[in-house]
Amino acid sequence: MLPRSEADMLLCRALDVPRSHIYAFPERRVGAAAAERLATWIGRRRAGEPVAYILGERGFWGLDLTVTAAALIPRPDTETLVAAALAQIRADAHVLDLGTGCGTVALAIAAERPSARIVASDVDPLCVALCQHNAERLGFAVETRLADRFDGIPERFDVVVSNPPYVAADDDHLQRGDLRFEPRHALVSGGGGVDFLAALVREAPPHLKPGGWLCVEHGCDQEHQVRGLFLERGFANVHCHRDLADQPRATTGQWP
Ligand SMILES: C[S@@+](CC[C@H](N)C(=O)[O-])C[C@H]1O[C@@H](n2cnc3c(N)ncnc32)[C@H](O)[C@@H]1O
Repeated sequence: MLPRSEADMLLCRALDVPRSHIYAFPERRVGAAAAERLATWIGRRRAGEPVAYILGERGFWGLDLTVTAAALIPRPDTETLVAAALAQIRADAHVLDLGTGCGTVALAIAAERPSARIVASDVDPLCVALCQHNAERLGFAVETRLADRFDGIPERFDVVVSNPPYVAADDDHLQRGDLRFEPRHALVSGGGGVDFLAALVREAPPHLKPGGWLCVEHGCDQEHQVRGLFLERGFANVHCHRDLADQPRATTGQWP
């Protein structure tokens, strides 16, 4: 995010005003209490803490999501995964969002398909509680489950969607920016980043109805590996979807 946008977000929250206010009234003086709040937040930001964690929220797919340091901060890249999954999700579909974090993907789908039956799962109880909190706050009926991948998830779905951990343990990006503050188990997977994706592709078929879809996000350098995993497992109609930066970002495939 651009420094100017971040500064605006912190100032607006400190003053409790919408962004339009600070441009409409640039002469407004900041009171002592707001200035103190702002100074504390600027100190935290200078120490590297992400704005989403400082303010406890992040917008995604037009939804204001509560975010804590227990969950990955929703990324614009993940809109590619949501759009690819929505193309396969009919109005009354049964959908699983595996590794939901704060509810990012499940809640975006719930906003678009209010009659769908959506299950959101995570291995971290703090994420399950956070997703539940966001669902209730936004008024969406999403069922949450505490589950290690598909363990304890017996049913078959029309669509399984997941933004799983896919960063290699030795990736330099983990030492930079927001990633330094995000939970490692939300980011890192073994096997150079693809172990979790490989397990998902291997384990998903018994949880898909015939003709059901698996939709996963992955790194832009993992396109060919992930495509190979889908094809080897027997998925059909395998397609890679590119993000707004024209990078390969999500792969979808249909279980015959
Ligand atoms: C990359 S984050 C994605 C979070 C959210 N879906 C999003 O797009 O913002 C991966 C999520 O998978 C969860 N996770 C990690 N290992 C898991 C496992 N074995 N079973 C289920 N969820 C897992 C993490 O807790 C984290 O919330």
